[in-house]
Amino acid sequence: MPLSLERAKYGAQAHTDEVGALPTPFPRTIGPNAGRYLQEVLESGLTVDMIGRFERAFTEAMGVKHCIATPGCTPALAVLAASMPWEPGDEVIVSPVTDYGTVQGLIAERFIPIFPDTEPGVIDFSARTIEPCITDRTRAILAVHMTGTINDMDAINALAEKHGLFVYEDVCQAVFGQYKGRIAGTLARAAGFSFDSEKTMGSDVGGCLVTNDDALAERARFIGQSRGAVMQPHFGRLHSVAGYAYRMPLCTAAICLGQLEAIREQVAQRDRMARLLSDLLSNIPGVTSLPIPSYMDVYSCWMMGFSIDPEAFRCTPEQFAEQLAAAGIPGAGLGKYYLMPAALTCLHEKVAKRQYPYSIPPASREYRYSGDCCPNAQRFLETYIRWTTFCEKYQPEHCELAAEIVSSVAAKNRV
Ligand SMILES: Cc1ncc(COP(=O)(O)O)c(C=O)c1O
Repeated sequence: MPLSLERAKYGAQAHTDEVGALPTPFPRTIGPNAGRYLQEVLESGLTVDMIGRFERAFTEAMGVKHCIATPGCTPALAVLAASMPWEPGDEVIVSPVTDYGTVQGLIAERFIPIFPDTEPGVIDFSARTIEPCITDRTRAILAVHMTGTINDMDAINALAEKHGLFVYEDVCQAVFGQYKGRIAGTLARAAGFSFDSEKTMGSDVGGCLVTNDDALAERARFIGQSRGAVMQPHFGRLHSVAGYAYRMPLCTAAICLGQLEAIREQVAQRDRMARLLSDLLSNIPGVTSLPIPSYMDVYSCWMMGFSIDPEAFRCTPEQFAEQLAAAGIPGAGLGKYYLMPAALTCLHEKVAKRQYPYSIPPASREYRYSGDCCPNAQRFLETYIRWTTFCEKYQPEHCELAAEIVSSVAAKNRV
């Protein structure tokens, strides 16, 4: 790492510079029983089945057959990737605007992430933008519900079915959001969740995967938790697959269980406040809030934000965001780093050097990773300003205050 660059920060550490009267996620609201569950972990001398209890409770809350608790969504998606029968050089179509955690497991397995563009003016891709990216090497579509806006999964599933592709979801930013009456994470064949301290169900470093597929669940547990080991009589562990030790810690499971008891009401509050704030922001000339698709019954908003019309203001979007942060919008900034084809310089370099799996074979064609591969997404992120995160502590007066701050910064900079 060049010494002039700062290392990325996560969790509460990333929020220390925020100023103003608006609520921030930290200190987190913790479900009232979490302390009791933590006590059980300690008093049992680490023997209590807290992980199993959380997994069963989450399974029931989601209405799915299997939940496998992990230390985060990055490991959950890595376990799913490692559980698939695909070969190095096979392609997986992924939302272009997302976090690195979405793709880490694909890269580790030497699969090739392919990023279709988004639809103009929104943050998610669509069946229309995905279709031209499908080749004979495509194996799956991984849909990320960015900020909490859920992809149109019926259309994506119909397209996938036509081409025999596996579809799964990254639900990190849409926990307990709902699409046409169904919960995000039950809209495809599997899903990964994050319960990282900054996330909607913040419980320290944690996550899980869910699925209704018995064989996939069994394989994911074997690879992700048993490190791919089977017991050989008179010998011991035989590692028939190079697996992982991605088990959720007992203390995280205790906090997750406590948080799960409180989450539905918290998400309902996020939904109400995000819709109110979106309406208030859209009344400001030159400001457009992120569209909330009409098929979404519950907007589990993790990150609030809006686009500005650069023609309407004298300052740059970056300067607009800096003024917002100084005036009290927590961590206001641009989210350009979410543009994965631009952020994955490690893959760009592999392509340039034709390193495996970008050698031919196993790859079957040339690849390119840069921002201009997804011009709609790139254009969108150049003028999209977001809070670091949104939270369930917002009340109507906070939405009004936030809209007033945005309105006064807009008025000061209007041409
Ligand atoms: C969309 C998305 N996917 C994956 C991750 C990674 O989750 P975790 O930190 O639990 O590994 C994040 C976290 O920021 C995320 O926002």
